[in-house]
Amino acid sequence: MSGSLSSSVSPERVGLVGLGRIGRNLALNLKDGGVEVVGFDHAPEALAHAVRDGLIAVPSIEALLDALAPPRLVMLALPAGAATEGVLQALLPRLVAGDIIVDLGNAHFDDTAERVRRLRAREVGFLGVGVAGGESGARYGAALMAGGESSAWARVAPVLRKAAARLDGRPQVALLGPEGSGHLAKVAHNAAEYAEMAAIAEIYTFLERILDLGPEETARLFDRWARDDGASYLLEITANILRRDDPLTQRPLIEVVLDRVEHTGTGLWAVQAAQAAGVAVPQVTAALELRLISREQEGRRRRSRDWPRGTVERPDPNEAVPVLENALLLARIGGLVQALELAHEVARSRGWRLALARMLRIWRAGGIVRSPLLQRFEQAVPELSRPGGLLFEPWLARRIRELLPSLRRTVAFAARAGLPVPSLSACLFWLEARHQTSLPTRMTAAQRDYFGGHGVVRADRQGRYHLDGTRVQAG
Ligand code: 3PG
Repeated sequence: MSGSLSSSVSPERVGLVGLGRIGRNLALNLKDGGVEVVGFDHAPEALAHAVRDGLIAVPSIEALLDALAPPRLVMLALPAGAATEGVLQALLPRLVAGDIIVDLGNAHFDDTAERVRRLRAREVGFLGVGVAGGESGARYGAALMAGGESSAWARVAPVLRKAAARLDGRPQVALLGPEGSGHLAKVAHNAAEYAEMAAIAEIYTFLERILDLGPEETARLFDRWARDDGASYLLEITANILRRDDPLTQRPLIEVVLDRVEHTGTGLWAVQAAQAAGVAVPQVTAALELRLISREQEGRRRRSRDWPRGTVERPDPNEAVPVLENALLLARIGGLVQALELAHEVARSRGWRLALARMLRIWRAGGIVRSPLLQRFEQAVPELSRPGGLLFEPWLARRIRELLPSLRRTVAFAARAGLPVPSLSACLFWLEARHQTSLPTRMTAAQRDYFGGHGVVRADRQGRYHLDGTRVQAG
């Protein structure tokens, strides 16, 4: 392949399997930092692209391993599941004690934990590293969240520091915990990402459909919000997207984009893992489910024909815009709280100590959810283990109360207008429910005993009872 593979072994030579968009950009980033990356990809086009970009590429996994001196460091940047496991199976017979594999893909954290344990038995190190920040993050500074054993980490850290996003000039990358902790941190990041993206999209749609604002006016608003206290990368790119014209038709770009959104799995894992660990993440669930509904193009089109429209007066934009800004900020706060509760509880259920404040610093340096707002959450992390939880942290509790009337107004107005705002509605339901002493679940509890004999917890005495007043027998 490339002729630049010399026989002398650099102390910073690493292998990389997977030269797709993320892998290739990470390799270029590492190369800029003085790390020599030897790359391989099963797809000939990806190999050729890497060579065109000046990277060292070899034609097989064997050649890749031969190019590295043991103990070797081999990174994987592959789709999760079969692709990652397939390469691992090909590597395994050729690995020797002391070699280290670093999985930079979006693997499920439980798969990563199993691989850490499986390879430990072979004395091969395995680290699962969540990579956030998209393609440009991979190229110029990624949010890198590692999980696994500290012995492997000591060897890998100096390499990953070269590719990490920086905060105040210092690379932000850390071993966040054992086993699958790094990939769990990535899932939590994406949970926050799903929630923020959905909230922005719903507020944008409100501005467009109910306030009747065009792309230029909405771009100006998002630009302003992207500079306020609640600034964020996603607000910034929203304004940029709204300013772009479609190169094919010269129309505003957003107008030619279909409303269909796919997903690649981390949002689904977030919802599944959170629910299994007993944590409600309704904004993430709503965001995911709206994506699922968005795929049903033809059915929606047919049913829309005689669907009764909501009727509302167009509100005064001067009054409505600050309300929407507040509602959006509150939904972003809600999404972050849910992502942190998810990370905290799922880690706890696996027995992993996850360094959440450190994780948030990494997100703040280079995550798609990067925002100065995250600094507040870093300080609030200890509240997660206290009885009032994160929502009781004084700054958050005060901000939530200040912003709540705006979210209530926005959701109520959208409901009257017939505009679905699932993630905003989910945030509101979740906040209302988390702040009630009596939920509409009392009847559900009684019904479960009535037809299923499950018993109820009584308000006036200890223990579980049936509705006929008898105690529930143990077992
Ligand atoms: C990722 O972070 O892997 C994706 O870019 C975001 O997830 P999605 O493809 O499910 O939107």
